[in-house]
Amino acid sequence: MSFDAIQHLIKSVMGLDPESIGAETIKRIVHRRMVAVDIKEMAEYFSFLEGSSDEMQSLINEITVPETWFFRDHEPFKVLSNHVKNLKLHGNGQRLKFLSVPCSTGEEPYSIAMVLRDIGLSINDFKIDAVDISTKVLDKARKGVYGENSFRGKDVSFRDKYFDRQDKSYAISDEIKKTVRFHKHNILTDNFMLGAGPYNVIFCRNLLIYFDYETKCKVLETLHNVMGKQGLLFLGHAETGRMPAGMFEPIRKPGSFAYCKVDGASVDKRVREPVFASYQTGSAVPQAAKKTTTKQSSQPANLVALKVERKNLDQPRASMTTDEWVETIQGLADQGRLKEALRECDKLIEAVPDSAQAYYLKGVVLLAFDVGPEAVDAFKKAVYLDPKHYQSLIHLSVLAEEQGDLRASENFRARADRLRNNGHDVDH
Ligand SMILES: C[S@@+](CC[C@H](N)C(=O)[O-])C[C@H]1O[C@@H](n2cnc3c(N)ncnc32)[C@H](O)[C@@H]1O
Repeated sequence: MSFDAIQHLIKSVMGLDPESIGAETIKRIVHRRMVAVDIKEMAEYFSFLEGSSDEMQSLINEITVPETWFFRDHEPFKVLSNHVKNLKLHGNGQRLKFLSVPCSTGEEPYSIAMVLRDIGLSINDFKIDAVDISTKVLDKARKGVYGENSFRGKDVSFRDKYFDRQDKSYAISDEIKKTVRFHKHNILTDNFMLGAGPYNVIFCRNLLIYFDYETKCKVLETLHNVMGKQGLLFLGHAETGRMPAGMFEPIRKPGSFAYCKVDGASVDKRVREPVFASYQTGSAVPQAAKKTTTKQSSQPANLVALKVERKNLDQPRASMTTDEWVETIQGLADQGRLKEALRECDKLIEAVPDSAQAYYLKGVVLLAFDVGPEAVDAFKKAVYLDPKHYQSLIHLSVLAEEQGDLRASENFRARADRLRNNGHDVDH
């Protein structure tokens, strides 16, 4: 009972949906905090937590997931670069404003700063506000010293240009550091950053995955309020599926997960119809795909094997149901036609954005290409759309373990085990 009350309190303060990281993980962290403050009873800890903002901050510092790295997903930064060049060309010379929330340990806002400097903006041309709820990550962000783990892409040439080597670490140059201002704020508070905007561009990536739909709507409304006319919003890979209508419209840049602001909008919490407007190939919308829901595959959670009955892989997609399309993709992957399989995954995702199975397949194909971080994002998206997606949870557990994140691995595994123990239809 007290534990439920603690989870409820955490959710009401910072928005964390307990489902997103699992009750077991939260319990472990709460126990750690109880030991730290020398409290033995959960009920007593709850009362203490309610009355102590310091303890709430310590709990938040432990419970938040700070995972981030420089130039995470390259495409958003390319789109940012082109967008800003355009703004400078057609703008009125006003100072541009950027917001990174949540900024975690700083890699994202510093990446934005490097892009802006690379395209020739002087430090007086822009300001970057970087916000997070955790004081622990902000301390690290302000120091600006990073280990190898923060540089995960293939091209890290920016490191030679903007960092100074310090033994095994890299310190961000002062030139970049002084362009970012860090602030401790909770995105759920009323009047969040109101006076500081309006922002031309907002990065809000890999936060909404921890929120339920109501909270996601509230956050998007907040961002809409602090954003300037025709502002650009970047979300994370796994956060684009279900959006409230009338606030932001996706821009057609695959892989950027960017949205432009719809001005004068009032929030409509009805789910926006999936965007069927155009495939990259320009082919027609498969009506059947709209209507069917995807069954979870009964494939074993093998990392690469995708065995299916042979289908006519060249059958026009417009005449297929979602399930048939999924099988076709599996067939392509099975034949080693991985690039085609990946393209088809993206088309299916565009046509049926709430298909967990489509994201799962994309994750498996990406693994075959050896691009782990993107595969992780795809599996997370599958789990976001279908929290009972057993195979995705298993993949996430294995991948987290490979990354040395044993806590996350254990958490995904526990969630998968719970599904099995509760008699859900999963593979063994
Ligand atoms: C996974 S990181 C995302 C960092 C970066 N945007 C990226 O995509 O790489 C999530 C961050 O969200 C922060 N966070 C969680 N709840 C928040 C809230 N209510 N307000 C502001 N930040 C929050 C956490 O402290 C954590 O640093």
